[in-house]
Amino acid sequence: MALLGVNIDHVATVRQARRTDEPDPVWAAVEAELGGADGITFHLREDRRHVNDRDARLLRETVGVKLNMEMSIADEIVAIASELRPAQCTLVPERREELTTEGGLDVVRHHARVSSAVGRLSEAGIVLSAFIEPIADQLKASADAGFRAVELWTGAYAHAKTPAEKSGALSNLAGAIEVGRQVGLEVHGGHGLTYRNISTIASLPGFSEFNIGHSIVARSVYVGMREAVAEMKRLLTVHAPVSGLN
Ligand code: PXP
Repeated sequence: MALLGVNIDHVATVRQARRTDEPDPVWAAVEAELGGADGITFHLREDRRHVNDRDARLLRETVGVKLNMEMSIADEIVAIASELRPAQCTLVPERREELTTEGGLDVVRHHARVSSAVGRLSEAGIVLSAFIEPIADQLKASADAGFRAVELWTGAYAHAKTPAEKSGALSNLAGAIEVGRQVGLEVHGGHGLTYRNISTIASLPGFSEFNIGHSIVARSVYVGMREAVAEMKRLLTVHAPVSGLN
């Protein structure tokens, strides 16, 4: 069964709406762990629009499950991550005008810069994952650049408007999982996954981790973070592949 990484960025987004000290994403991480999260994910953006350096430091000190830091390959952020040493860093593209990470990192195009960041972070003992689109060349380039894992962008599946679009997106993901297996990459998934759309993708064999943020934080407003995470864990368990690669 795939592990659940809970992205707590949007707890910090609510805090930053008032530039105050609540709700605290560090507290949210504790609640997520108590709800059964296998990992805590956060994105330290260059503009610090939600999670800030204090949060990153405290998360590193307090999180007991796998800590996954999403980040760009900007020098400043690579330096912070090398010092922080989370268990895993997921390299993502970052544009200031975007609402959230849109699409994957182009590892083919930025191979030299990405490989250099992978080298620096690996030296610090961090496991590296690349957030990419489910395209064979991107998976091959990721393996070549030294990543241990890739996180496949699940946006095409999540945003599909018709059954044909959805099954096309799922078959692209299945094809990418197969390429990942051939080149020795662990395969994760994330972006746009919700309580409504998780079942089909959870039953696709080959994903070892899903990172889910917005939908869990949104539900936590009503039921609390602990229960919101427990509900998503239940769905991943119920819909886990019957027999498969994970
Ligand atoms: N994975 C990555 C690499 C992301 O950048 C994001 C968004 O921060 C997520 C997963 C979570 O996406 P969502 O908030 O849509 O669940």
